[in-house]
Amino acid sequence: MRTRELAQLKNTGHQGINALFAKAHSADWDIENDVDWSTPVPKDDPLVAFEWGAFSKTPTFRELPHEVKVHATRRGVGRILGILKLGEAVAQDVCAKLALLLPQEDYRNHAVAQAMDEARHHLAYHRFLDKMDEEVEEIDFGTEMMFESLLQSHDPLRLIATEQFFLESLAMGLFEGIATHATNPLLRDILTLITRDESRHMGFGVLYIDEWMKQHTLDERIEFARHWLPQILGFVADQPGPIVLGRVVARLREAGVTDAEARGRRMLVEQQAINRTEADEVLAGRRLPHLLTSARRAGLLAPEITEALDLAAHPLVVATQRAARTSAAVG
Ligand SMILES: [Fe+2]
Ligand SMILES: [Fe+2]
Repeated sequence: MRTRELAQLKNTGHQGINALFAKAHSADWDIENDVDWSTPVPKDDPLVAFEWGAFSKTPTFRELPHEVKVHATRRGVGRILGILKLGEAVAQDVCAKLALLLPQEDYRNHAVAQAMDEARHHLAYHRFLDKMDEEVEEIDFGTEMMFESLLQSHDPLRLIATEQFFLESLAMGLFEGIATHATNPLLRDILTLITRDESRHMGFGVLYIDEWMKQHTLDERIEFARHWLPQILGFVADQPGPIVLGRVVARLREAGVTDAEARGRRMLVEQQAINRTEADEVLAGRRLPHLLTSARRAGLLAPEITEALDLAAHPLVVATQRAARTSAAVG
């Protein structure tokens, strides 16, 4: 940006986006004083209820000795917090870049406020992981590639669509899952405060994409949705399977379970029934993931788009539209 351009900074006047900036201050929290860092994080504390973990609702997992369940659960929490911590650093970079790239005053303001939130989140996960004092498992290749593509990009639409719209909608489900299942008070408090910030970030993503959609032609909107909608539907339909099981089995082995592989095979079969029940919950609209509601709110599920992409009859699209009609009728 040049001096002359900064002299002409314009506000889009978008009420929702301007309100997010004010909220970043009124809903702010203090990392030193709003959470109690003296709360212990003992080695034998599973930190979350066992049901939180992948495959943990299967009868085979439930009958494992308590210490094994603690080990597997802590490892799972450590892995997710490690990815989230890295995700916060990536988000901070993305926001710093957006603050320099976006020519609209209100969009820049949001990006700067979000950068500060992400810095605080990174610090919170960092401190909590230090207190856990646990070896953090390696980040998977798919996640690393997604972060890498964000770090390489300089296109505001791509940055915001990937970070605030897609990743933060996806992560909201993770944050809420940990916050509701956390049994350690420090972990619960951190996640509750972070979730509050993240819903503003996701809100920016939805509002930005919604505005972009309103200002572009049908063909351009269809092209945008062609890139994102199949990914969103794929992620939502994805359920615990062999890849996640591999990590659980490795954790059982570390905890001294000698027949971990055989137990893993049983868990995979048992998990299928749980997956079916959970998928039915989503299809019935009782537990709609944020990714679907964000897609709808940003206009990706408009009939002219889903018809052009041949996705109008997709069960997840139908369920999201039906849930929106029901809540509109109730509200
Ligand atoms: Fe964050
Ligand atoms: Fe965020």
